Amino acid sequence: MMTEITILLVDDEAAFRQALSRRLNKRGFNVLQADSGSQCLSMLNNHSVSVIIMDVKMPEMSGIETLRQIKKKYPDKVEVILLTGQVSAQDGVTGIKIGAFDYLTKPVEIDHLAEKIKQANESIIRKEERIAENAFREKVAHQMAAAERLASLGTLATGIAHEINNPLAIINESAGFLSQILARQKMLQIPCRKEFELSIDKIITAVERAGKITHQLLGFARNGHSDYTRVDLPELIAESIDLLTHEMSNRNIDITTSFDPLSKEIMTDPFQLRQVFINLLSNANYAVGENGRISISTANHGQEVAISIQDTGPGIPANHIEKIFEPFFTTKPPNKGTGLGLFVTRNIIDKLGGSIRVDSKLNVGTTFRVVLPKCLEMQIKAFETENSATDWISHIKGESYHDKNSD
Ligand SMILES: Nc1ncnc2c1ncn2[C@@H]1O[C@H](COP(=O)(O)OP(=O)(O)OP(=O)(O)O)[C@@H](O)[C@H]1O
Ligand SMILES: [Mg+2]
Repeated sequence: MMTEITILLVDDEAAFRQALSRRLNKRGFNVLQADSGSQCLSMLNNHSVSVIIMDVKMPEMSGIETLRQIKKKYPDKVEVILLTGQVSAQDGVTGIKIGAFDYLTKPVEIDHLAEKIKQANESIIRKEERIAENAFREKVAHQMAAAERLASLGTLATGIAHEINNPLAIINESAGFLSQILARQKMLQIPCRKEFELSIDKIITAVERAGKITHQLLGFARNGHSDYTRVDLPELIAESIDLLTHEMSNRNIDITTSFDPLSKEIMTDPFQLRQVFINLLSNANYAVGENGRISISTANHGQEVAISIQDTGPGIPANHIEKIFEPFFTTKPPNKGTGLGLFVTRNIIDKLGGSIRVDSKLNVGTTFRVVLPKCLEMQIKAFETENSATDWISHIKGESYHDKNSD
């Protein structure tokens, strides 16, 4: 069924308006009426109108002036068909210059008018489509630019991290060495001993923080390649939780897990995937307060596995969602977070052939959903050349693997 076209009929002569309105109604149009230019403008504020049919000659505000204001306020939302008298057809030409769709001379021939209304409506639909298309194009271009920026930032950042690691190690060692010297018996009495100690502590803390940054960045850049092997997913997740328990131990956080037996084993890089889990779990842990809940679950989806990490934290505000994967974006207090956790996480997951998505509701919580291939085609090939991969492949395909291993 064709959707009803809503038109607004603007004319100061009530009798003409009502007669025309009745006839257009009969032809299936939804007709609204206004008796002046200003009423027309105020009606446009709260009615969705596609086509306006307007008399040019009106006492208070002329049709041409009204048209000017309509076009200024709604350049692409509504088309205007002007009605002119026989002697004032020149007004119609002026109207078209300002942006009227067309003009008809009174008395109007109803079939002709109905046809014009349909054309004007088509024109509005096409304009809307064009606007939507342009908006979509812009959005894609924006996303691509952001992705490119992130990619080059990532390369730069990992390069720098690599270069900084060596001097960091030297600073750390030297600070440790200074501590040792200070601890010697004959040093106990030296002047400013406390200040020396404090300074060394500061150096060590700062180096630790810098180390955290390089560690994150280099974690996924390890020689630029990943080491794929069979990974027991529940085991890896349990291990990652264990690594964080000391952070959670003094708060009453409830961690639950639920694993889908069909996606117990996957082929991936366990070290990198562990970093993903640690980053996501440590964010969840930071987000939930006392008595919070974190649930981790896996679900089998054919050739893929979906891993959800859900928390009952405060949620992520809409204007942050786009930014959380950017490097160095953090809402933690200064010196607390690197803002690299999610950036690195996303990079690792990309590299492992997966994807990550976030769903968050303010005051309810956040869920990160990671989807990973159980096994990439090329991994099978690599695995095949090194091992007899038949077990593995049949496992992935859901064939006899379970039977073989059940005894
Ligand atoms: N589960 C979550 N709940 C609420 N906000 C989150 C959650 N995970 C991430 N965020 C938001 O995303 C930001 C970026 O996270 P990311 O892990 O990249 O860095 P960080 O946690 O701030 O620093 P670091 O990982 O070094 O500790 C966080 O500062 C926080 O604002
Ligand atoms: Mg983090």
